Amino acid sequence: MLESSLGIVVTYDPQRGAPAVLGRHAIADAGLYSVCLAIQNLWLAATAEGLGVGWVSFYREQFLRELLGIPARVRPVAWLCLGPVRELQARPDLERHGWRHRMPLMQVLHEEQFGCPVTSANDPRQ
Ligand SMILES: Cc1cc2nc3c(=O)[nH]c(=O)nc-3n(C[C@H](O)[C@H](O)[C@H](O)COP(=O)(O)O)c2cc1C
Repeated sequence: MLESSLGIVVTYDPQRGAPAVLGRHAIADAGLYSVCLAIQNLWLAATAEGLGVGWVSFYREQFLRELLGIPARVRPVAWLCLGPVRELQARPDLERHGWRHRMPLMQVLHEEQFGCPVTSANDPRQ
């Protein structure tokens, strides 16, 4: 946070465009999903430009609200640190530092019912 050249706090305002917001009629959280997609797109664009992005989530929401004067109806979703980096790693940090390992695709796919493994006939890699 101290070293990055830019800090971006991404927020979600459920009242923007309300009451008829695409996707939110049936799924209340759809607005939050859209914000996360925007963050992902920002991340991809930054990476394509050779910039690094870090998502900071160890803040208290109320602290950030007060720091930036964010109104009660608006939800802070992410605090991003963005800027030039010495290099972009080919393997994600979590994997390189041994915190988490990449899961095989087949381990996270379910067929027809949750918990049912994909049969080889429907293996998307074939
Ligand atoms: C939802 C979310 C929250 C995260 N929170 C933190 C965090 O609080 N602190 C941290 O060091 N990394 C956090 N990360 C991980 C980093 O943002 C990021 O994965 C890391 O800098 C490596 O970036 P890269 O995948 O572009 O190499 C978080 C990632 C996500 C998706």
